[in-house]
Amino acid sequence: MPPTPTAHQADPIAPQKEVLAHIAPQVEALVTRHLEQRRLWMPSEILDERERDRLRDAARGLPESVRAGLALNLLTEEGLPHFHRLIAVHMGEHSVWGRWNNLWTAEEDRHGCVLRDYSRDAGIFDMVALERLQYDYLEAGFNPDWGRDPYKLLAYTSLQEKATQRAHGNLARLAAPIEPQLQTILSRVAGDEAKHHLFYRDCFAMLLAEDPERALKAAWAVMPNLAMPGHTIPGYTQLSDAVRAAGIYGPLDYCKIVSDLLGVWGIAAARGLSSQAERLQDQLMALPGRLERFAELVARRRPQARDLRFDFLPRAQGA
Ligand SMILES: [Fe+2]
Ligand SMILES: [Fe+2]
Repeated sequence: MPPTPTAHQADPIAPQKEVLAHIAPQVEALVTRHLEQRRLWMPSEILDERERDRLRDAARGLPESVRAGLALNLLTEEGLPHFHRLIAVHMGEHSVWGRWNNLWTAEEDRHGCVLRDYSRDAGIFDMVALERLQYDYLEAGFNPDWGRDPYKLLAYTSLQEKATQRAHGNLARLAAPIEPQLQTILSRVAGDEAKHHLFYRDCFAMLLAEDPERALKAAWAVMPNLAMPGHTIPGYTQLSDAVRAAGIYGPLDYCKIVSDLLGVWGIAAARGLSSQAERLQDQLMALPGRLERFAELVARRRPQARDLRFDFLPRAQGA
């Protein structure tokens, strides 16, 4: 008679689930810290529709590079349904993780709302063209091959939150001299992303402490290439190139994020690993150098986006 499969054989991610259950009290403490530190704001508190005429005048001066950046940041935020689903699927819905997912989703939803409301009130896009892009972006779906591993989800969200923080923060800096209200909005959103990043970063640090072998494996599966929903749709690469050329977000930013996280997580200092995990540790520590070389290659191969042509950017309003 064949042996009865153990729980681990029946469910390949049973060990990860055990660790998640074990760290639940510490995760509760991180949720509490987040609630104490966050600044809850509502889109209409910072965007008064009675001031639409003034806003339209001010936004007229926004260069096309800033508009392209705003469009990409908005699209990224509108990927929220896919991200909510991924968190629910990987982390479950009935524990502290489910509570966090709902809380996080409610906070994130305001980002897409405020950027869309701003875009519409400011009259800086052909909204139908932008909405079509958004539709394609969402319809493309997003199903990263993580094998339901919650560690990979937490590695991904640690990186992704920091990436959005940088993109919104850099765009806020570029918008500041022309349109202070857009700067205010983007800074508020970037502030939220910073706090989300801290939550995920510290959750992943717990995984590294409890289960370093599997955590390193998950980090190595996710870190070399941060996939985004919609990256395959027509025009996405051009839009990403334009945003990189404008200094809003690109491979060099990603390199910095990876390098910082490896440092904060103390990857180089991890000890007592198997030889396989030591190899992953070395590969991870070599990653910033690899990403930097890739960033240089991208900057050389793809020309600066001087003349932006996107359906959602009306030519007559170009700066
Ligand atoms: Fe966001
Ligand atoms: Fe966020």
